[in-house]
Order: sequence, then structure tokens, then C-alpha cells
Amino acid sequence: MQHEDASYHIPVLLERSIELLVTDPAGVYVDGTLGGGGHSRLLLSKLGENSRVLGFDQDDDAVQLAQTLFADDRRMIVVHSNVVHLSDVLHQYEIPSIDGMLLDLGVSSHQIDIPERGFSFRFEGPLDMRMDRETTLTAADIIARSTEEELARIFFTYGEERNSRRIARAIVQARGRHPLTDTAALVDVISAATSPVHRNKTLARIFQSLRIAVNDELRVLEETLAQGLAALKTGGHMVVISYHSLEDRIVKHFFRHEATSCVCPPRTPICVCGKVARIKVLHSKHIEADENEIRRNPRARSARLRAGQKVHA
Ligand SMILES: C[S@@+](CC[C@H](N)C(=O)[O-])C[C@H]1O[C@@H](n2cnc3c(N)ncnc32)[C@H](O)[C@@H]1O
Repeated sequence: MQHEDASYHIPVLLERSIELLVTDPAGVYVDGTLGGGGHSRLLLSKLGENSRVLGFDQDDDAVQLAQTLFADDRRMIVVHSNVVHLSDVLHQYEIPSIDGMLLDLGVSSHQIDIPERGFSFRFEGPLDMRMDRETTLTAADIIARSTEEELARIFFTYGEERNSRRIARAIVQARGRHPLTDTAALVDVISAATSPVHRNKTLARIFQSLRIAVNDELRVLEETLAQGLAALKTGGHMVVISYHSLEDRIVKHFFRHEATSCVCPPRTPICVCGKVARIKVLHSKHIEADENEIRRNPRARSARLRAGQKVHA
């Protein structure tokens, strides 16, 4: 594992996200996705001596790096856990509320670039794709055990792949002949079932869908947003950077729903639902990286940042 954080991962929308996150320099913050620690490092530089940052990562490589990077900073607490356990961890550290939460979703460049992790269709490696290597379900398990219908559903729902059925059928036929346990074998099957013009996009969508399924990413995101908002102090900010439309849609709908007060049907004379808006959306449109950043870091191209302020307990 590399200990040079710039080669581990270049943080995306760094200045903008931290600017939006910090409301109180003496506060308690959650970085739910430490990765190479770039966001946490800038965050800590904006905070005072009595502040605290709880940095989560479910990946042992990221945790090991963070423990080295922040070893001398007593304000930093590195937590090896899925951030979906936020409420329990806050309880464990006797932290009743937080001033801000950052989620920089998805995988780090380090995870993508290591063939043994199996995240990329560009490298040969085992079909693993677990961010948390203490869990047991791998992409190879999903490929081996799911029915054709289940595979098609995963590809369609999590990859928005139009040829999901054809690819699922090809996989089921191929796995009857030999086990599909590595990326190269899966790439061969998908490539044979896809026109060469669309090959790379299809491969990207199928690999994305398997990664989302292995790590249960969308359910985790929904639950984490809810727990983060519950823990946030009134006035505190939540900042989320997402990298594909499924994640961004969840964040957008969550913010929109929480920013809406009454949801009674339009003709109801007085409000009976009692719903109160808990969030003020800080930018009506999402924020994207500018051309300079994209030139320096192509991964920033798909990034969408959304931020909200808690306005009601
Ligand atoms: C895009 S990288 C974060 C990069 C980081 N902001 C930086 O500055 O280097 C995402 C990281 O979050 C971790 N991660 C993704 N989902 C997670 C979750 N639900 N809980 C904990 N860690 C998660 C991944 O393992 C990965 O290391």
C-alpha cells in the first residue's frame, strides 16, 4: 500500500466542500469517507484546538493510511466502520450531536487502481469489489449464485444498462461452462454479448452495478443521510459529493423531501400532515468541478456536490 496520499487519491471539489461544511471552527465534524484523507486534512486546518473530526472508512487500507497521516493530531478520531453505523458510533463516543457531515461517495483511486480489488474492468484480478474486506459477499458470488432475472435486475437497476437481459443470459450460459471468478473472464463474456461501439460504456455500467450490489451502496446512502441529519445540530451543514446519477438522485430527493414542509394534497384547506422542513438547500443546482480541476483530475468530471443546512430539529 502506498503512503503518499496524492497518489492514493486526489480529493475532488476540495476547497468548495470544506468551505461549505464548516460553520463552527470549534465544532465536531464527520468525514464519512476518509479515503486518502485529503478532505479531512483541509477540514482540520480550518478548525480550532478543541474541535473534533470523526473520520470513517470501511476499507482497511484507508484506515491504515489515516492512522499514519493523522497520528499526531489528537482532534482526529479514525473509525474503521461503514458510516451507516454513524448513530451507534456517535453514541459510543458520547457525542450527542455534530456540526457537519461530509460524504465523498464511491471508491478511491487507490481502490480502483489495485487489480486485486477487482473494481476495474481495465485490470485483471479477482471479481471481489468489496470496500470492506471483512464482509463476505463478493462480485464473484453474485455472478455465481444469482438467477438470470436477478442479474438482469442488478444490471438494469444499478447500472441503467439497457441490454441487461442479454448480458445476464450470456453470463448464465458461460458460467455453466466454467466459473467466472475474475475480471478478465467477465469482461470476455460481456464483450462477446455487446457491440464493440458500446463495449467500454457497457463494461463500466455492469462493473458499477456489481460494485453497488456488493457494497449495498444505495441503501447505505439513504440510511446514512437520515442518521446524519438526525445527528446534525440546527445550523449545521451536510455536504455530499456523488459520482453517478443513482447516488445523486437519492441525495437530491432526500434534500428536496427534507426541505419541504406541508405535504398535504393541494386542496386540503389546512395542513393535517404537520410536516416541517428540516433542511434548507444551499444551492438550488448542484455544484460541479470547473475545467481546471477536471484537467488536473479527470475523476472530478462526474462529481456533483449538494449541500444543505439543518434548519429545524
Ligand atoms: C471517494 S473516496 C474519498 C476520498 C477522500 N475524500 C479523500 O479526500 O481522499 C471514498 C472512500 O470512502 C470509503 N467509503 C465509501 N462508502 C463508505 C461507507 N458507506 N462507509 C465508510 N466508508 C466508505 C471508500 O472505502 C473510499 O476509501
